[in-house]
Amino acid sequence: MTALLTGAWNFPTRVLTGAGRIKDLPEVCRANGVARPLVVTDKGLAQSKIVADVLVLVREAGLTAKLFCEVKSNPTEANLLAGVAAFRSGGHDGVIAMGGGSALDVGKCVAFMAAQTRPIWDFEDVGDWWKRAKTDGVAPIIAIPTTAGTGSEVGRAGVITREDTHEKKIIFHPLMMPKVAIEDPELAIGLPPFLTMATGMDALSHCFEAYCVNAFHPLADGIALEGLRIVNTYLPRAVANGADLEARAYMFAAASMGATAFQKGLGAIHAICHPVGARYDTHHGLTNGVVFPYVLICNRSAIEAKTPHIARALDLPGRDFSAVLTWLLDFRRKLGVPHTLSELGVKEADAKAIAADAVKDPTAASNPRPLDEAEFERVTLAAIRGDLGG
Ligand SMILES: NC(=O)c1ccc[n+]([C@@H]2O[C@H](COP(=O)([O-])OP(=O)(O)OC[C@H]3O[C@@H](n4cnc5c(N)ncnc54)[C@H](O)[C@@H]3O)[C@@H](O)[C@H]2O)c1
Ligand SMILES: [Fe+2]
Repeated sequence: MTALLTGAWNFPTRVLTGAGRIKDLPEVCRANGVARPLVVTDKGLAQSKIVADVLVLVREAGLTAKLFCEVKSNPTEANLLAGVAAFRSGGHDGVIAMGGGSALDVGKCVAFMAAQTRPIWDFEDVGDWWKRAKTDGVAPIIAIPTTAGTGSEVGRAGVITREDTHEKKIIFHPLMMPKVAIEDPELAIGLPPFLTMATGMDALSHCFEAYCVNAFHPLADGIALEGLRIVNTYLPRAVANGADLEARAYMFAAASMGATAFQKGLGAIHAICHPVGARYDTHHGLTNGVVFPYVLICNRSAIEAKTPHIARALDLPGRDFSAVLTWLLDFRRKLGVPHTLSELGVKEADAKAIAADAVKDPTAASNPRPLDEAEFERVTLAAIRGDLGG
């Protein structure tokens, strides 16, 4: 079965998928004019066999590769600046970004910022700010995800934490789209069950929120619904058995589908999750998984017409809103997602400040129902307390 799960897709960028596909990396570098790649990953993965093997692979193919691993989860401007300095001083001509969303986002931003003179915050995903960028000298990016969640491998954005203001900023430029993504399920075998669950909840929330955005985008809608079906089917298998290559291959696809679909936009799950992550350094996907049902309940009136389609994709016994909510609560419980933000350390005293940032987060604008600061505070408090009362 897994032998069949190989492919080469040009959607939305070139994706090489399948077990063992990492062996194509040297050829992918050559085809994209990369002879001296900077391999960007995080500290933990820098010690792993999968990263060591990649370095051997590219060096044996005659490429001059160096490693940069000053990347923390919820990466910061300092991580990015150190990466740009390493890129410039090493005379690199491309980036191999390998790891979870944190490493991919830093790698993508390094390749982009290597060509810029303005500070990173000038390229936040606001209006047409991306047009300020210099495009000459943006380095080619090859993305190798090792978690199945963010979909950063097929996206044009990177998320960097601004520590002075406690904000997670979405940095956007079309040239941050990787030239090629290599999705090799064997690279995810070592991802522990808890992180498999947490990252999978990110893919789930991308598909769900994108589908619920009120915008005319039937292509993205179709992708989002199939992404939901895949996560429902394969995430429990990947959590139960990390070596299930079929489940890993499908979860990589679902992560890329989520990011493809969220060209439509996201919503209040992400709008709340970003300030929570910036303040408490919580894992992004895990935080989404916790906040999910509280936002679902809050959005009920605006998404009820869509729930039959969601329920059909998930093959639920009922087709109404409560069938979807019941499924979500059950799915979360079985996977071990915490039920409240207080379990992640979030304090009620911060709900107001979180809401003030959530309402300004770029993802808030596409929530299916416009939420003001008071409503964001109410939902945040409900998530802290575990109050599903609505
Ligand atoms: N660019 C986007 O569009 C986008 C979308 C959503 C989220 N994000 C961002 O992505 C980041 C989260 O990324 P993430 O959820 O992938 O987590 P992560 O990149 O922070 O990684 C989490 C942990 O998993 C470990 N890990 C990764 N792959 C592993 C493997 N195969 N085996 C063992 N350990 C492994 C890492 O070393 C790290 O300790 C956040 O900063 C979030 O804001 C970006
Ligand atoms: Fe996300």
